[in-house]
Amino acid sequence: MGTFDAVDVIGVKRDHGVLSPEQIDWMIGAYTAGEVAEEQMSALLMAIFLNGMDRAELNRWTGAMIASGERLDYTGLGRPTADKHSTGGVGDKITLALTPLVASFGVAVPQLSGRGLGHTGGTLDKLESIPGWRAELTNQQMYDQLSSVGAVICQAGAGLAPADRKLYALRDVTGTVASIPLIASSIMSKKIAEGTSGLVLDVKCGSGAFMTDIDRARQLAQTMVEIGADHDVVTTAVITDMSTPLGMAAGNALEVREALEVLAGGGPPDVVELTIVLARQMLASAAAQVEVRGVPGAGITPGSPQAVRRARELRDADPEQALRDGTAMDRWGDLIRAQGGDPVAPLPWARHTTDVVADADGYLATLSALPVGVAAWRLGAGRARREDAVQAGAGMVLHAKIGDQVRRGQPLMTLHTDTPERFNRAIEALDGGWTITAEPPEVSPVVLDTIGA
Ligand code: URA
Repeated sequence: MGTFDAVDVIGVKRDHGVLSPEQIDWMIGAYTAGEVAEEQMSALLMAIFLNGMDRAELNRWTGAMIASGERLDYTGLGRPTADKHSTGGVGDKITLALTPLVASFGVAVPQLSGRGLGHTGGTLDKLESIPGWRAELTNQQMYDQLSSVGAVICQAGAGLAPADRKLYALRDVTGTVASIPLIASSIMSKKIAEGTSGLVLDVKCGSGAFMTDIDRARQLAQTMVEIGADHDVVTTAVITDMSTPLGMAAGNALEVREALEVLAGGGPPDVVELTIVLARQMLASAAAQVEVRGVPGAGITPGSPQAVRRARELRDADPEQALRDGTAMDRWGDLIRAQGGDPVAPLPWARHTTDVVADADGYLATLSALPVGVAAWRLGAGRARREDAVQAGAGMVLHAKIGDQVRRGQPLMTLHTDTPERFNRAIEALDGGWTITAEPPEVSPVVLDTIGA
């Protein structure tokens, strides 16, 4: 790799130019190694924030972020792989039921997840409310569990895309988080390094999400689908509504309970619908892998009768049936036990609850995701700083969804916490977060658009 002057590289992007592949590789490599100063990378990030990157630049930028660390490889497993990434929202517990559901069809699901920060919860925090369950696995343990159980949900190791960790921390303090190329490369570098060959992106749109505007959500989704294609990962995206919380629960153990309802064949209709939509897309991405590459590691070559049959099975798979007949629930039990958890142990409840009640008769017309997320966070379900602990039982349970008829005095939601002094601040967050009207409102669909399918 040649060496460059960081000031020259910054100047190219400042002047609306196109960075060369060599400049990109050098800049990311030297920054990760501590040889480019923070203020120089800050200036380049701001230039990218303002002037963007074209597809070839972004592809190279993402590749350089992946190359900053290790890239896991699951081709030896003898199964197609598929993963889902959500850009994060309130009450988004989809990963919990989706992972064992897709694994129950013989697709390996390497799900590297995070902890919550701010008003959106983290999958690892939710699972840690299960007694004994642990999030930290070595790469070898991950591989072994994918081979035996077919699914793993764990914390990303420090070796994956270390450039992203440094860049993300820098973006956070330089006003450069909300940039489509920088978000897209950050998410995709981690997902590609994780070793999945198929990826479904759930791009949330609405008050509780990063993207509040559908056009920007579409642009982010399209950008990530292109990065996936350019790195040989079969990638599709759905844009889903996050103007109102998903399901009826927000908070760690409360959300695990709701995921268990889904795995038992019940659960709120919006959570079930999104789980099924995403499962079908993951299965279709696994089928596409089998068609194009066969199944390396299982001796199935592309175009062979076995490949054709396996791809057809995956496309014809019925995820609703696997929820109804307990197949997905069995796989959940295997997944939880493999990571030290007890899937039948009682989940924790918070010690204190209080209700928020309807102030009129009518229809629930709005119930905004952000205030509900902030209330759950203030009740103790989330953390303000990375080192904070979360309460397993804290959060919000909704008793009505948009469009439901309600009566004055009826509980609309129940707040849960171990620390009742938090109730007032949580109730303040909910102020103006819902409205009741005399006429029934229009109810938004859960899936707003699909990209790349
Ligand atoms: N999630 C990420 O991992 N990176 C971003 O930049 C935004 C969301």
